[in-house]
Amino acid sequence: MVYTRRALDLRRTETRAGADAPLGNGGLSVKIGALKEIFEGENRVAMTPDSALQMVKLGHRCCIEAGAGAKAGFADALYAAAGVEVLKNAKAVIEAADVLVKVRGPEEKEAKLLRQGQTLISFFWPAQNEALLKLVADRGATVVAMDMVPRISRAQKMDALSSMANIAGYRAVIEAGNNFGRFFTGQVTAAGKVPPAKVLIVGAGVAGLAAIGTSVSLGAIVHAFDVRPEVAEQIESMGASFVYLEFDPSELPDGAATGGYAAPSTPEFQAKQLAKFRELAPEMDIVITTALIPGRPAPKLWTKDMVAMMKPGSVIVDLAAERGGNCDLTIADEKIVTENGVTIVGYTDFPSRMAAQASTLYSTNIRHMLTDLTPKKDGVIVHNMEDDVIRGATVAHQGAVTFPPPAPKVAAIAAAKPKEKVKEPTPEERRAAEAAAFKAETRTQVGMLVIGGVLILLAGLFTPASFMSHFIVFVLSCFVGFQVIWNVSHSLHTPLMAVTNAISSIIILGALMQIGSGNWLVIILAALSVFMAGINIFGGFMVTRRMLAMFQKS
Ligand code: NAI
Repeated sequence: MVYTRRALDLRRTETRAGADAPLGNGGLSVKIGALKEIFEGENRVAMTPDSALQMVKLGHRCCIEAGAGAKAGFADALYAAAGVEVLKNAKAVIEAADVLVKVRGPEEKEAKLLRQGQTLISFFWPAQNEALLKLVADRGATVVAMDMVPRISRAQKMDALSSMANIAGYRAVIEAGNNFGRFFTGQVTAAGKVPPAKVLIVGAGVAGLAAIGTSVSLGAIVHAFDVRPEVAEQIESMGASFVYLEFDPSELPDGAATGGYAAPSTPEFQAKQLAKFRELAPEMDIVITTALIPGRPAPKLWTKDMVAMMKPGSVIVDLAAERGGNCDLTIADEKIVTENGVTIVGYTDFPSRMAAQASTLYSTNIRHMLTDLTPKKDGVIVHNMEDDVIRGATVAHQGAVTFPPPAPKVAAIAAAKPKEKVKEPTPEERRAAEAAAFKAETRTQVGMLVIGGVLILLAGLFTPASFMSHFIVFVLSCFVGFQVIWNVSHSLHTPLMAVTNAISSIIILGALMQIGSGNWLVIILAALSVFMAGINIFGGFMVTRRMLAMFQKS
């Protein structure tokens, strides 16, 4: 379909006419435009040929500034082949697009080109860029800040901070390896024995967990620490060991109350943490620090004396360098070597150093954001400020600054209904309750036995003795089987299935022995037994295969 300049202008006039009118009204789809990053050294791009194809499926059209993807390995020809219009400069893209996508927040000269009704989706850091935020709001543009996407499960697919932190964690290990003169993994070679490298990860958030995964897979011995004790299990499940501290639980910060982020720890807790790190410092070959509490300068956790205790050749990668660094000696954006031969890396652009991967993940986050903004997949943007995720990320809308957002409703609902405190029973009360429950259970069981006995006696009055002997065995096996299976916890149902397979085999053998009898009723019952036991056996095999497949590496 060809869109004339006049048609586009008409559409823009329509959109501007009503402040609330959805973008793309009037049967014409919205145009998404990606700008080339102008920040020195930034290699990422906010749109890839793949993400453009996905956005077309949402009913949008795409354009990009010439050369925008070049540093991330996406040539203009690849975009053109994906149906993206390649425009010669930023001005042309800003004029043509209704929605602009970018990685870094706009510089002042870019912000000044935004127009009313236009939407910008990029990182923005509104708390640090108040003047810029006011400027874009005054121009009537809407800004969706990717750094403001709330950390709730529904928004994970749009969580660009996590995507970038994941890359930073991986790259931090690669960078450490590049500066470390030895193997990560231990080896026994003809030339001698090589001990494995010892790695300490401080802070097990997104970047920390990625660093743990990478170091473990390279064969290092990995230790990790975090102020949130609930991550200990995750750390250990990834093959690292959690550094435990002796502490009083009241000294712990409440992570749950801060939307999954850590809260500041008490001075006593910090002192214990530093004492533990001093103990570990001489042993560690590589230290990767990622500790951060949002909105605060990075806590100083790896002090000058700890660096002095480390062996020559050791490496520290400080991912929190941008916020002042977790290590006393970190210099942002630089790599230094201390007098005792410890390398300290303070780069703040790890995602940009893996631009192809970072652009792929970031553009996917943007595409998911656009999916939520295009509910009918018809190329019409509906900026629903009632939606928690869209509201949380929108920092300027309809000429007003909309930052900070209200607390997400999900948290508000949870806060509105605090769990009722259950009063702990005294030992006497507990004993009395257990005795009452036991009495009630015994009464039910005796009652059932009496009813069962009466029914069996009645059956015995009217049926032959040979039937009764089989019938009593059948009833007893049903009772025992029920009692055994009913009390097995769900987690043990799969091993239990193996046992029921064995029982099914016995049933099939019995049924096959009876199936030759001349009585039609017996034949039908035997056939049914074979059929049902067969379902049990084959179903059991299928479930077991599925369970085993879950533990197999593809
Ligand atoms: P996150 O919030 O998911 O994780 C931070 C972790 O630090 C949390 O688990 C928290 O409990 C822990 N923490 C806080 N205070 C601590 C303390 N005193 N001791 C031990 N642990 C503590 O953050 P995310 O997304 O993993 O990012 C980690 C760091 O990486 C941040 O500083 C972020 O700015 C940085 N980053 C750096 C990049 C680079 O290129 N250098 C790129 C992306 C992120």
